[in-house]
Amino acid sequence: MHTRLCDLLGITHPIVNAPMAGPAKADLAAAVSEAGGLGLIGGSSGDPEWLRQQIKATRERTSRPFGVGFISSFPGLDGLVAVAIEEGVAVIAHSFADPTPYVPAAHAAGILVLAQVQTVAQAVQAAAAGVDAIAAQGVEAGGHTGTSSATLPLVPAVIDAVGDIPVIAAGGIADGRGLAAVLILGAEGAWIGTRFAVSRESAGSEWGKARVVAAGTDDTVLTKVYDLISGSPFPAGIADHVLQNRYTRTWHGREAELLQERTAWRARLEQASQQGDAELAAVRAGNVAGLIDAVEPAGDILRRIIAEAEAILRRRPAEVLG
Ligand SMILES: Cc1cc2nc3c(=O)[nH]c(=O)nc-3n(C[C@H](O)[C@H](O)[C@H](O)COP(=O)(O)O)c2cc1C
Repeated sequence: MHTRLCDLLGITHPIVNAPMAGPAKADLAAAVSEAGGLGLIGGSSGDPEWLRQQIKATRERTSRPFGVGFISSFPGLDGLVAVAIEEGVAVIAHSFADPTPYVPAAHAAGILVLAQVQTVAQAVQAAAAGVDAIAAQGVEAGGHTGTSSATLPLVPAVIDAVGDIPVIAAGGIADGRGLAAVLILGAEGAWIGTRFAVSRESAGSEWGKARVVAAGTDDTVLTKVYDLISGSPFPAGIADHVLQNRYTRTWHGREAELLQERTAWRARLEQASQQGDAELAAVRAGNVAGLIDAVEPAGDILRRIIAEAEAILRRRPAEVLG
């Protein structure tokens, strides 16, 4: 299996791990790159020196290309991007903000720029900015995502809108069936979050991973009940895809009331995260939670997805077309 994304990024398999703040640190990025995909460090989990250490640690574990992805609506982005450029990562990815101001400096340093978008209009903006590939993220994605379009209609619409720029599908892909499906849609690869968040190399909590393994397809909710408390600066139109728990069942739909108790809940939620109380704390995951049965090494996950997708892409056309 080989796509234009493999040529662009210098990778063997058309799989990118999502730059997840929390789970995607050096261990995960290096494991994905070593297995032939593109490892991305979630660059918005610390300060510039933290990021420099993460990049160095990744480089110690792999000589293959890897990158850094940012929540680009968060403060402090310029200092983080400067470190990624100084350290000469292969790829910088931007999510949740217009990437336009960041493309020229990255390109001048020989660094590729990816943009993750949630709408066709954002994809057109990213294409005009000159990004090298666009990840189209549907509502089924785990963590922060848009609220309007699912991956199935978004990916072909973005492909139609951005011409020759390679499009990567994000949201709802956890096995070879998902990868085969998005390749048939015309995507050049898959940007995978939840499945890699539940890998051995993920820096996410073990209690959170166990929750995702136990969860089913119907057990998630797209909500603002955590962001309202944390005050995290995500733009309008972005919500948070998490596992349902006692907290979301109590407060989702009662946001105005919740805001009255914001200070108390901020302390309570922080404590719940530290204590591993998954009935209160956020566990970020998409609908693919229902397809994940075990915590496994990221390389094994990647190789299985590729092998399954290859088998499907060989077998299925003959089954369907006779
Ligand atoms: C635990 C978790 C944390 C995430 N953190 C980020 C992040 O920091 N930056 C970002 O651009 N996307 C983040 N995402 C979203 C991913 O980039 C990606 O779009 C999504 O995981 C793809 O859908 P999937 O979870 O169905 O694979 C996160 C997703 C998860 C599951």
